[in-house]
Amino acid sequence: MRHTAWYIIQAIMTTESLTITRPDDWHLHLRDGDVLNSVAPFTAKQFQRAIVMPNLKPAVTTVKQAVDYLDRVLAAVEGSDFEPLMTLYLTDNTSADEIVAAHKSCFIKGVKLYPAGATTNSDEGVTDIRRCDAVLEEMQRAGLPLLVHGEVTDGSVDVFDREKVFIDRVLIPTMERFPELKIVFEHITTADAVDFVTESGPRIGATITVHHLMYSRNAMFEGGIRPHHYCLPVLKRERHRQALLRAIASGKPGFFLGTDSAPHDKKLKESSCGCAGIFSAHAAIELYATVFDAIGELDKLEAFASFYGPDFYGLPRNSSTITLEKSEQTIPESYPMADGSVVPLMAGKTIPWTLKPDNA
Ligand code: DOR
Ligand code: ZN
Repeated sequence: MRHTAWYIIQAIMTTESLTITRPDDWHLHLRDGDVLNSVAPFTAKQFQRAIVMPNLKPAVTTVKQAVDYLDRVLAAVEGSDFEPLMTLYLTDNTSADEIVAAHKSCFIKGVKLYPAGATTNSDEGVTDIRRCDAVLEEMQRAGLPLLVHGEVTDGSVDVFDREKVFIDRVLIPTMERFPELKIVFEHITTADAVDFVTESGPRIGATITVHHLMYSRNAMFEGGIRPHHYCLPVLKRERHRQALLRAIASGKPGFFLGTDSAPHDKKLKESSCGCAGIFSAHAAIELYATVFDAIGELDKLEAFASFYGPDFYGLPRNSSTITLEKSEQTIPESYPMADGSVVPLMAGKTIPWTLKPDNA
């Protein structure tokens, strides 16, 4: 009896733990309806705030639609103090007046550029960024960031090169036309993007997903085709993953956390034409902690997850904290989602870090 108690005490005393300022997710897909209700609580238990993507069907293109969506998100996380930060979906027809209204609304924190056809629900996106010059002018004036899905859609460009080509064809010219416009280069995947963000001034930020930190493109073909490792921008070569790891290890403020957690029903992923998107919200901060720990940079996690995002957006840093413990957890094979299920990142696998429940 005495023995057992001693071992328990020793286990508690030796559990490595890490307390950090509560993080935010600067790129998240929450969807709508029953899916929203299924997935939003995962994010709310770890993160204080999240930038909520507007690629619903129909897309969230107006302030009116954004406020209605905000209400639905808040209903899905009732009982938590999670704060959704909303975005508008940029189209060829977005007006400068809508940007003025978005800025005044105070709850819209960015405008998302989806090149038309680039990814899930991007059909209503922008066909040519020059068509949006009046809108970009107003965003520049208002200090409202442009959040970019940085891939060209030109079918003649190899899928693996689309991010690099986007930098040259779209990003640089847009930055030249709007020298003060704040831009978040979302979910960067290449050494080219890391270098570009590193060399750009502080008005350019970049989010990095945990799946792009964990996997290279080999993961899509391990013993067969792996639809749950398919996302856009697609996973790249190992040398690009290494560049992303160097970016987070650099501790530079231009790089911050954005999961791009993008739930799709299992059946829609495991299909002859599977959807792009990886669901990571179930254990996002634990997975990031696992990556930072594996490269011996745990002390850089807090700034990446909790400081650099709000600093870029001009928002206050959070005041509460979360605690992570170095104790193993096994990720379920799937989670229920609406009337189906979603397969999470690392399904069936064990990871070394676990979020301590609030008040535990
Ligand atoms: O993999 C992705 N899934 N990339 C995106 O850009 C969109 C997202 C989604 O909405 O499913
Ligand atoms: Zn996304």
